[in-house]
Amino acid sequence: MSKDRYNPIMVGIGKKGEWLEGEPFFINEDDPSKIALNPGLREVCLEKGMIGDRKIDVVFPIIHGTLGEDGCLQGFLQMHHLPFVGSSVLGSAVGMDKDIMKRLFLQGGIPCARYITLYHWQKRRPSFEEVKKELGLPLFVKPCNLGSSLGISRCYDAEEYQKAVETAFEFDNKVVVEENIEGREIEVSLLGDEDLLASLPGEIIPPGGFYSYDSKYIQSEETKLVAPVELDEASTSLIQETAKKAFRLLELSGLTRADFFLKKNGEIYLNEVNTLPGFTSISMYSKLLEATGISYPELIDRLLELALKRFAVERKLKRFRG
Ligand SMILES: Nc1ncnc2c1ncn2[C@@H]1O[C@H](COP(=O)(O)OP(=O)(O)O)[C@@H](O)[C@H]1O
Ligand SMILES: [Mg+2]
Repeated sequence: MSKDRYNPIMVGIGKKGEWLEGEPFFINEDDPSKIALNPGLREVCLEKGMIGDRKIDVVFPIIHGTLGEDGCLQGFLQMHHLPFVGSSVLGSAVGMDKDIMKRLFLQGGIPCARYITLYHWQKRRPSFEEVKKELGLPLFVKPCNLGSSLGISRCYDAEEYQKAVETAFEFDNKVVVEENIEGREIEVSLLGDEDLLASLPGEIIPPGGFYSYDSKYIQSEETKLVAPVELDEASTSLIQETAKKAFRLLELSGLTRADFFLKKNGEIYLNEVNTLPGFTSISMYSKLLEATGISYPELIDRLLELALKRFAVERKLKRFRG
């Protein structure tokens, strides 16, 4: 973020929910398995739109997962009357929940992997044989609201399935079990609100065909990122248009990365949307927009402008006046 144009204040959120500021911000910055917030950071608090004596104009959440990406942080900021980048409470929440997200996609006619939902309170869960009969093998078992591939397993037999379900329930009270989709992993970046831009597509080629937590963050050099990737025109525009449709169906805002599977026969399946995608200058999200003609500094400008514009429109509503 340009320090000439902006006066950014970097705030971290610790594991207990504390807001932290200071330098250096991280320890073990170069080791993804050990990186952490510097334990010497000082606690700060957001009060009346201020952090200390500094007034906050707009918040740019760069955070993944529970509480940050699922609408909680967004609701918190909304209650503080602060504009923020990205989707609001509703879009963030439905974009995070793999079950609700798919229900909306399917209602809008967007193809997704077939799946079943398991709840923690169920007295009798479908057996492995029943699930196998319905969805085939292998199966993907996922905590419903998480991301980063945490708690996700691919399983081939009853024993693996049992373990996978147990693991997923350690992370969430709702779990989805999906059929395996054999296809390339194609992603597209979306930027905008009323005027929505879909980038050129990119491809993720993870080792062994499963983009796991380790291949995302720890052994990331084993995964190939192709940004942009050359696809035929029909597939490209089908993916771009479907991504835009998904953005509207979930009522998202600002930015999103939509992740597809592309089968050999040209069929596409929408795997998920990420309302706060990885956001470094080498992340797929920004690389794809760069390939589409939007530089990283311009991307930052645009996202901040979108946040301020949406906030201004919202504030005109009668419920926010007087
Ligand atoms: N139904 C599926 N068929 C084939 N591969 C899948 C399926 N679901 C997930 N995967 C693999 O697992 C990875 C993580 O799953 P995903 O649903 O994207 O979880 P997360 O939200 O944690 O990123 C995907 O990038 C893909 O490699
Ligand atoms: Mg994913």
